[in-house]
Amino acid sequence: MIPINKPSMDEAEAQAVLEVMRKGPVTNALGAGPKVLEFEKMFAEFAGVKHAVAVNTGTAALHAAVMAVSVGRDDEVIVPSFTFVATAEAVALAGAKPVFTDIDPETYTLSPAAVKKAITKKTKAILPVDLYGFSADMKPLREIAAKHGLGLVEDAAQAHGATYAGKPAGCFSDAACWSLYASKNMMTGEGGVVTTNDDQINEKLRMIRTHGEKAKYASEMLGSNYRMPELEAAIGVVQMKKLPSFVAKRRQNAQQLTKILSKSKKLILPYESKSCQHSWYLYTARLKDATEAQRNKLLETLKAKGIGAEAYYVNPINTMPFYRDNYGAKALPETEKAAKQVFSLPVHPGVTEEEIKFIGETVLSLL
Ligand SMILES: Cc1ncc(COP(=O)(O)O)c(C=O)c1O
Repeated sequence: MIPINKPSMDEAEAQAVLEVMRKGPVTNALGAGPKVLEFEKMFAEFAGVKHAVAVNTGTAALHAAVMAVSVGRDDEVIVPSFTFVATAEAVALAGAKPVFTDIDPETYTLSPAAVKKAITKKTKAILPVDLYGFSADMKPLREIAAKHGLGLVEDAAQAHGATYAGKPAGCFSDAACWSLYASKNMMTGEGGVVTTNDDQINEKLRMIRTHGEKAKYASEMLGSNYRMPELEAAIGVVQMKKLPSFVAKRRQNAQQLTKILSKSKKLILPYESKSCQHSWYLYTARLKDATEAQRNKLLETLKAKGIGAEAYYVNPINTMPFYRDNYGAKALPETEKAAKQVFSLPVHPGVTEEEIKFIGETVLSLL
């Protein structure tokens, strides 16, 4: 089976971990040991921002960022429903209400027009997602946030290597949240990062990461234990150096796949522009005018042929029992339609040119 995603690592990561195990320290009680600091410096440079705060998951990154822009009980945060559950979970964990809002059908990211309509007196922040690795439309979202005095937290969990308006994804928000989970464009097993240009947010994030502490046993605000261990940071330092080549290979695979799949009129292929480049975390196509059953049948057949195609995300978050019961049902037509028609194909760096040809031609033969 050609898996949808797979970590790319070799002896270099193994050696880096061994070195930390032999020399220590393996973690640091106040947040950042030497490897974490080295990793944070590299990540901030890559993301083109002042600060990077490493944490232990992308979910922790989101929760910490939502807290750092002062979202609290009874606030509302505008989020897409067409994303991984962690986006809305972070808002709920902060005691606030996720307000599920529809997407743009071409890019699958939060629709600025829909965001405008979702704003109420209780809105505190907007939380767009760079879905599949394509940046949300940050300029209009920035304008809306500025006009209404809202925080802008970006879920960049899938966006390593993406650009928006010619700049690295993530630099148009108050805080961008990245995941380093095993499937991501770069990984540390589990891990996360928050990037920001804001000194105050940076300071808050560092406190939230370690129980709200600046000094030990003297919590100044609510926090948690979101620290990244040194062992993971050691992997991160090695992966960071490889990230440009990982993204380049994904891009090459995606371009080859697009060339093959564009022969069909039954598909809508992923959107990209010169100044807004995809990270190609997921190559996601759409089966035009298809029913959910037709899309699922295609997935099933592809899997039977050894292609690990998947559909992200089949259940919009607002339809999941917990979110539906606590925050109410809501019609999101573009989200519902996309959830039934999209499917993703493997383009990770481990997929060869031959395999891309096989994937593309198999899809064409099944349409
Ligand atoms: C869009 C999105 N947000 C948040 C997360 C959460 O990241 P993590 O799994 O590292 O907690 C993920 C990844 O799993 C994701 O894809």
